[in-house]
Amino acid sequence: MDLLSLLYAFLLFTPALAIWPRPRNLTTGSTPLRLSSSFAIKLSGISQVPQDLTDAIQRTTTFLKTDKLQALVPDRGASSSSTVKSAGTLQSLTVKLSQSSGSVKSISADATAGLGVANESYTLQIPASGGTATLTASSALGLFRGLTTFGQLWYDLDGTTYLLNAPIQITDSPSYPYRGFMLDTSRNYFPVDDIKRTLDAMSWVKINHFHWHVVDSQSFPLVVPGFEELSQKGAYSSSEVYTPDNIKDIVAYAAARGIDIMIEVDTPGHTAVISKSHPEHVACPEATPWSSFANEPPAGQLRLTSSATTQFTVNLFKAVSSMFPSKLLSTGGDELNTNCYSKDAQTQQDLKSQGKTLEQALDTFTQATHSALRTAGKTPVVWEGAPQSYQAVRLTLTSSIEMALEHTVKLGNDTVVLVWISSDHVAAVAQKGFRLIHAASDFFYLDCGGGGWVGDNINGNSWCDPFKTWQKSYSFNPTAGLTSAQAKLVVGGQQLLWTEQSGPSNLDSIAWPRAASSAELFWSGPGGDVRTALPRLHDVAYRFIQRGVKAIPLQPRWRLRVLLAVRDGVFRYTGVLLNWEILGFWMKGLAIAGVGLGSLLAYVRIFRNR
Ligand SMILES: *[C@@H]1O[C@H](CO)[C@@H](O)[C@H](O)[C@H]1NC(C)=O
Ligand SMILES: *[C@@H]1O[C@H](CO)[C@@H](O)[C@H](O)[C@H]1NC(C)=O
Ligand SMILES: *[C@@H]1O[C@H](CO)[C@@H](O)[C@H](O)[C@H]1NC(C)=O
Repeated sequence: MDLLSLLYAFLLFTPALAIWPRPRNLTTGSTPLRLSSSFAIKLSGISQVPQDLTDAIQRTTTFLKTDKLQALVPDRGASSSSTVKSAGTLQSLTVKLSQSSGSVKSISADATAGLGVANESYTLQIPASGGTATLTASSALGLFRGLTTFGQLWYDLDGTTYLLNAPIQITDSPSYPYRGFMLDTSRNYFPVDDIKRTLDAMSWVKINHFHWHVVDSQSFPLVVPGFEELSQKGAYSSSEVYTPDNIKDIVAYAAARGIDIMIEVDTPGHTAVISKSHPEHVACPEATPWSSFANEPPAGQLRLTSSATTQFTVNLFKAVSSMFPSKLLSTGGDELNTNCYSKDAQTQQDLKSQGKTLEQALDTFTQATHSALRTAGKTPVVWEGAPQSYQAVRLTLTSSIEMALEHTVKLGNDTVVLVWISSDHVAAVAQKGFRLIHAASDFFYLDCGGGGWVGDNINGNSWCDPFKTWQKSYSFNPTAGLTSAQAKLVVGGQQLLWTEQSGPSNLDSIAWPRAASSAELFWSGPGGDVRTALPRLHDVAYRFIQRGVKAIPLQPRWRLRVLLAVRDGVFRYTGVLLNWEILGFWMKGLAIAGVGLGSLLAYVRIFRNR
């Protein structure tokens, strides 16, 4: 055996299953198994099986047949042919409750029950002897997570669905209750099918929140009952809208896939488009130069000092609340431009007659909208505000205030804060005692690095340069700099796609597989190694493509050829994806072991000679 084969042999002991996110506890063996041609997923002991669980089982069964993903090894599995042919068969997967029997809520009810209410844990056992595998959980949502994992275990070889690592024993549950993905559908519009495809992709990596930044200054595609004029005048076109029926459809589609939709109507800033139907409610609409009035064009924000505008906003939130079952609803609150209000005669007059500062008026406005939300059973979510540090990090040409945590806006202690400007602000938000969602631009923005899109600056950069790689988001530590009490305030995190430079044509490629990195971070917890994650993330991308999501390659396919296939009678071929980083890692390990062994031998020799 030469040195390289020896190294390869070491690698065979690395669990190679491509499950994403990494389960809490995974043990594998080295016995091959095939799926029987009559393989079936069977429910056991569940009375009144929820329809969405039946549907999820159906989808899993379909994926097992249609994925047809070949193993990511140089010969794509061909050399395992005889092993696979002679392997034992798995006849069925029994799906049952951890309590001996009974009924469960639907996946949809679990998904929308509130942050951390439903139990997502599950156990999955696949015996080496084949026969029957078992999936157990205490909820339909937990069973759904387990089905998702089950669907990631299998490869195709000439029409045979197989794995090489039985027995498999998995005990799994998430580290954080909020694992999200944010999409902006205002800067550019995304048809319903694009959103559904994205929800599917999210569910495959166990993302459980769709943060939908549905409207902004540029367009208002959401058709809100009682406020139809907003989309009639504010959508890019009459077909580029989300009707109440579309919303019902999307909400149900998401919930059946274990995803809660946190809708966001960003206020009082980011509302220029409302001036199209309600000029009376908007200060500095499309004012120029825009850079004096907003962080990006067009300028325009709600006249928060006006009681009519406040009432309008309260009613709008009530109407939007009733369209979405989620307990979470974001009122935005970011990037409020003070110059816009300084130049707005009506706002100045209101402030004078009310004897308030702008911040006091913002407080009144926020109390009104947030209390309407609470009455509707919602928990308000806002973008962070850490005003002192704000100016330093943002390329803003004007003075602006955030939903001012440090100022006179008193946010209820139930409020959840999205930390977006910088991960440096996490501790400040936690110090205020707010629950928080990680969404920092320096780790999680998918749109960074796309160049400048405003103006004609040839060398313009995006404000959050550089591009954020999957490794960058993967390396994030959610509790860095927090006390253990503050760490409990972290409910999770997400990657975000602002769509100034994105549309349906690049949605898949800009999001996937990158956005899967935070899915694993917030499911499996931090500390994952990018070297061992990479081969599994390759697998995510390849499997996504098989399922119709156009994920992009992370490396040249050449990498897949730099693989091992040791069959020397001692070590079974298991098809571990190797790359130079992993090789380097093991070489280092071997070198350290060698030095250790050398010293030991030297010591023994000295000892003997005495
Ligand atoms: C992981 O699972 C194995 C097999 O079920 C078990 O023996 C082991 O104790 C578990 N480890 C942890 C850390 O839970
Ligand atoms: C979640 O369900 C599992 C069984 O799948 C159970 O062991 C665990 O205690 C439950 N967790 C909570 C917090 O109820
Ligand atoms: C908010 O404060 C109230 C009163 O002090 C307390 O009962 C409640 O548990 C707090 N809620 C949160 C989410 O911290």
